[in-house]
Amino acid sequence: MTKLLKRLLKGVLLDTELADVFSSFDIIGDIAIIKIPDSISLKKKLIGDTLLSNVSNLKSVFLQKTAVDGEYRLRGLELIAGDNKYVTIYKEYGCQFFVNVASSYFSPRLSTERLRISNLVSENELIINMFGGIGTFSIVIAKKTPVLVYNIDSNMDAYVLSILNSKLNKIQDRIISLHGDAQKILHSVLFEDKADRILMPLPERAFEFIDVSVNCIKPSGGYLHFFSHIKSETKSKAVGDSENYVHSLFSRYDYQIKHTQIVRAVGPRVYQTVTDIYIKK
Ligand SMILES: C[S@@+](CC[C@H](N)C(=O)[O-])C[C@H]1O[C@@H](n2cnc3c(N)ncnc32)[C@H](O)[C@@H]1O
Repeated sequence: MTKLLKRLLKGVLLDTELADVFSSFDIIGDIAIIKIPDSISLKKKLIGDTLLSNVSNLKSVFLQKTAVDGEYRLRGLELIAGDNKYVTIYKEYGCQFFVNVASSYFSPRLSTERLRISNLVSENELIINMFGGIGTFSIVIAKKTPVLVYNIDSNMDAYVLSILNSKLNKIQDRIISLHGDAQKILHSVLFEDKADRILMPLPERAFEFIDVSVNCIKPSGGYLHFFSHIKSETKSKAVGDSENYVHSLFSRYDYQIKHTQIVRAVGPRVYQTVTDIYIKK
């Protein structure tokens, strides 16, 4: 949703105020989430009302008050226009998701990455999504290909939504939702040597879960999708810096980096990246 907000606010805000408006914001179903800098915070209601009256089917506009934070990766929200409700239905690639924008993590900005990983999967794989949230990656994958996905999350709300979302997409036989700490769940012998593929979409902490994830890969080999936050001087260096980081973390394993790419920029000179790593055992 780049530039739309600035376009809508032209003539509504002073030019000096317009210059401070952030270009991009998220629309999740019928809910918009926007950031507003302190310099124009007195205009938040006007900005919310303008958005609400110009975007069809929008019901609520929330101001994001804090960065995504904490174990559950949540953000502080304040209603600035429309209905005071957090739950919506979001659609992508023929899948639908119940989302609670306040109680569990969700980002529409990862949709291209969900599609990319779903295109790598083969029939009958056993997949573990260590930080599965409300089931987004797991469901996009399993809707497309008959596989078995264990969707793990420590946030009870995300776990409950992942069960509802598997049912909503009629693939409850392909997704097993588990609630708890991925480290503890995967230490169970049930998962040792079982996985063809493991998703690790917790960029801030994925490095803490390397040993347990490698232990779960099948003896014949399998893939890790390892997410990182990388500080790089320039965008063009982010992929190389990520791969150096992965080499430093995986040196005691037999592995091959198959692919690395930037998923999105998450701050000044900070990039979220994903590396596809083939583990040989
Ligand atoms: C960045 S979110 C990604 C969620 C989901 N994969 C998505 O893209 O929508 C990370 C998720 O990991 C969960 N989480 C954090 N620490 C965890 C842990 N130790 N074990 C299991 N889940 C954890 C959080 O609750 C959150 O839902």
